[in-house]
This record gives sequence, C-alpha cells and structure tokens, in this order.
Amino acid sequence: MVAYSWLFVPLIFSFSTILLIGGIENSEIYIELVESRGYPIETHEVETEDGYLLNVYRIPYGKNSVGNGTPNRYPVLMQHGLFGCGENFIWLNQSIGYMLADHGYDVWVMNVRGSWHSVKHKTLDPDKDDAYWRFTWHEMGIYDIPATIDYILKNTGAQNISFIGHSQGTTTIFVMGAVRPEYNEKINGLVAMGPMSVILNPEEIFIRLVAPHYKLFKAIGKVLDIQKFPPFLSNRQMHAMNRFLCGLKFSPRWLCTFLVSILVGPNDDQFDPRIFPITAPLTPSSSSFHQLIHYGQNMMDKKFTTFDWGNAKENLRRYGSEKPVEYNVTNISFKVALYVAPNDVFVSNQTVQFLEDTLPNISEVYRVPYETWTHVDFLWGRDLNIYVHHNLLRTLNGFIRQ
Ligand SMILES: *[C@@H]1O[C@H](CO)[C@@H](O)[C@H](O)[C@H]1NC(C)=O
Ligand SMILES: *[C@@H]1O[C@H](CO)[C@@H](O)[C@H](O)[C@H]1NC(C)=O
Ligand SMILES: *[C@@H]1O[C@H](CO)[C@@H](O)[C@H](O)[C@H]1NC(C)=O
Ligand SMILES: *[C@@H]1O[C@H](CO)[C@@H](O)[C@H](O)[C@H]1NC(C)=O
Ligand SMILES: *[C@@H]1O[C@H](CO)[C@@H](O)[C@H](O)[C@H]1NC(C)=O
Ligand SMILES: *[C@@H]1O[C@H](CO)[C@@H](O)[C@H](O)[C@H]1NC(C)=O
Repeated sequence: MVAYSWLFVPLIFSFSTILLIGGIENSEIYIELVESRGYPIETHEVETEDGYLLNVYRIPYGKNSVGNGTPNRYPVLMQHGLFGCGENFIWLNQSIGYMLADHGYDVWVMNVRGSWHSVKHKTLDPDKDDAYWRFTWHEMGIYDIPATIDYILKNTGAQNISFIGHSQGTTTIFVMGAVRPEYNEKINGLVAMGPMSVILNPEEIFIRLVAPHYKLFKAIGKVLDIQKFPPFLSNRQMHAMNRFLCGLKFSPRWLCTFLVSILVGPNDDQFDPRIFPITAPLTPSSSSFHQLIHYGQNMMDKKFTTFDWGNAKENLRRYGSEKPVEYNVTNISFKVALYVAPNDVFVSNQTVQFLEDTLPNISEVYRVPYETWTHVDFLWGRDLNIYVHHNLLRTLNGFIRQ
C-alpha cells in the first residue's frame, strides 16, 4: 500500500484554487522522460475477460539500444501498489525497471484497473457508471494479471515470466495464485516487495485509526454512493492539485516532506525531496473505495478472504458462495522471494511471519540490510542500486535457471 494519502491534507486546502485553474493532463511527460534517458518505451492495451482496458508499459531492451534484437530476453512483469501506478518502477534514474532492461530483461509494467492510466472499459463509462468501480484487488488478481500474462506470452513466445509486485501488487498475485492456479506454471517466480496478504498489526497511524471502523466507513460509502477513491475528485483535478502543492518551484517542500514522513515512517533518509516534481503529479493514483475496505475487513478478521459485498447474491455471483471465501494459498505453487523493509510501517514482523507460515514455496526472505529502509524505498530509495538491485538480479537469475 503506497502511502500517498499524505497528499490529502494540503489537497483539501487548495481544492478551490485548482478548480479555478483547471486540470492538466500530463501523462505524456513520463513517456518522454523514459525516452530522454535513452530507453525505448512502448504502451500496450490489454483487455480483461470482464472488459477492463489496461495500459501496459514495456521497455523491451536497455539504454541506447543495448540488447536490441537479442532474442529470448526474459520477460518480467511488475505491478505497483495501492495509490500507485506503473511509473513507480520507471520514474527515477535508479528505478528497478531500467536496471532490469539493462541486464537482459524484457520489462513489462502494469497499470491495474482504476489506476490513473487504466480508467477505461469496453462498455462501461468510469465517469458515469458505478458498476465500473465495483471491484477490489480480488478482480485485479483473477482478471488483470492473467490477461496481461497471456498477452506477454503471446507477444514474446516465452513460456513463463517473472513477477515483481510491490505492496498491493503482491496481494493481487497471491489472489491469482490461489484462485487461478492454472496460471501458476506461467510464473517462474515472484519477488514480493513490501509483501502483504493480510495486514497484521501495522504501525502506520492512519491504518490503525481507520481500519477498526471499516464497517462504519463501508456504511457511509454506501449511503453516499462512494465507489472511487478519493471520491468527488477527477484524476485530472487531483494531479493538478498535487503538482501545484508539491511539484512546483514555489511548493512548500518542507510540508510535503513532513507529510511523507508521517505516512511512510519518520526515518526515510532514502527519500530525496528533489524528486517531488516527478512523483507529486502522479500520486495518489485513483483506486476503488472497496479495495480499502477489503484490506480493512481482512485485517480485522485476521484472515485472507474475498471481499464481502454485503449482499448474498452478489457474493454468490462473484465467489460461488454467499459468504466471503478464504483464499487457498496452498494453491500458490510458484517460488516466492519476500523482500522485507526493516522500517516498514505497513508490513509488520507479524505480517511477514504470516506469509512465511502460509505460503508453500518461499525460496528466500531478503531483509534489506539498511535499518531505516521503508515500504516505499523500493520505489524511490536513493541507494536502490546498493541495497536492492544486486540481490534482485541474483533472485531472478535463480528463478530463470532453476
Ligand atoms: C538522471 O540521469 C540523467 C542523465 O541520464 C542526469 O542528467 C540527471 O541529472 C539524473 N538525475 C538525478 C536526480 O540523478
Ligand atoms: C485451489 O485450486 C483448485 C484447483 O486446483 C480450485 O478448485 C480451488 O477453487 C482453489 N481454491 C480456492 C480457494 O480458490
Ligand atoms: C520457463 O520456461 C522455460 C522455457 O522457456 C523452461 O525451460 C523453464 O523450465 C520454465 N520454468 C518454469 C519454472 O516453469
Ligand atoms: C487448497 O489447495 C490444496 C492444493 O491445491 C488442496 O490440496 C486443498 O484441498 C485445498 N483446500 C481447500 C480447503 O480447498
Ligand atoms: C516450488 O517451485 C519450484 C519451481 O517452480 C517447483 O519445482 C517446486 O515443485 C515448487 N514446490 C512446491 C512445494 O510447490
Ligand atoms: C522484526 O524482526 C527482525 C528480524 O527478525 C528483528 O531484528 C526486529 O527486532 C523485529 N522487530 C520488531 C519490532 O519486533
């Protein structure tokens, strides 16, 4: 769960200002940024079984055409966390996506349904149809990932891929492995960064405050007909606002940095405030409201189960059961490397222990050897190259050559 919710406080203050100046659509900036660094980037559209249209990025080879034309580059698929988007893996010089492209990998980056670049559907209108937003990370696991895997295998001729998930991007792949085990053999291994199925006893202050009352929030959401999160704001407005608040020369960086520290932990000395112009306009990316409630439900039940739609018929339609169903993680047969941050306010030792106790095929637990490494340092840590890249190459190499 990427903690970009820190943006909401100042967001509210500047709401009216931004409504006056209007939104800015700046998606192209990030494509240009990748190209300016000397890397090729493609965008693909993947359609899921239930009609969602997903934007997928691909960096097929390395900097300045290194590896262009080399056959059999190993496909690796990356998935971002809650409130994140595909850029999380390619936004900084030291981002993981570039490093992998330079080391022989064919890099694919997902944007899950409902996140900034994937608010699209074949028949539903996300601006008008509530039905569009009625999903949680369950549907990302059972539809978005399988559709993307099939697309990659078809386009590359490979027989399997490696998967790197961050935060919610690990929850979704656990869901897939449990519910659609026929896809497990298409994954040669999973690197789970900041991993979580059930969140147990997190230190993060907002989760601690909000999760115990998830039923209340669910009821309020129902009354106000909230489907999307954050509600009442378009993505354009939100991005313009965040850019204005934290991404411009005159933005109060000290305030933004302070809010980052509240949300991701007080000791993020891997965070460089100079990256705000790149990161602020992208975050938080939209999600469905139900994703948040689903995490709350599992956390309070201390069980990894499907979401309770509060309606027996709806549950029956989605899960073949009137009540939420426990995910059978025994079904997850692929190898899993857990990448744990010692200073992760979302992922406690209990959460890691829970994963170690339940997942059947853990090949490695890599505790980043840097005591203040946070949940989001996997995305923006200054020293990613020192603390993550080297080990990641070793892990992936192990998956491929088993
Ligand atoms: C990123 O790399 C480019 C050159 O490829 C360089 O001009 C730029 O200063 C670097 N940015 C940072 C923050 O290191
Ligand atoms: C586990 O996989 C089996 C097929 O191997 C499937 O029938 C079952 O529904 C899966 N369990 C869950 C909880 O999804
Ligand atoms: C992945 O596919 C390759 C062939 O492309 C195969 O040799 C290898 O055994 C597969 N790995 C797994 C884990 O299935
Ligand atoms: C869970 O999956 C495992 C492995 O596929 C299977 O042996 C077991 O019966 C399943 N358990 C339940 C409760 O479905
Ligand atoms: C773990 O994964 C490896 C490689 O995919 C496989 O050979 C092995 O059977 C798996 N073990 C379990 C317990 O699923
Ligand atoms: C969590 O586990 C690590 C290593 O197993 C240990 O060093 C650390 O003290 C633990 N943290 C807490 C808060 O218990």
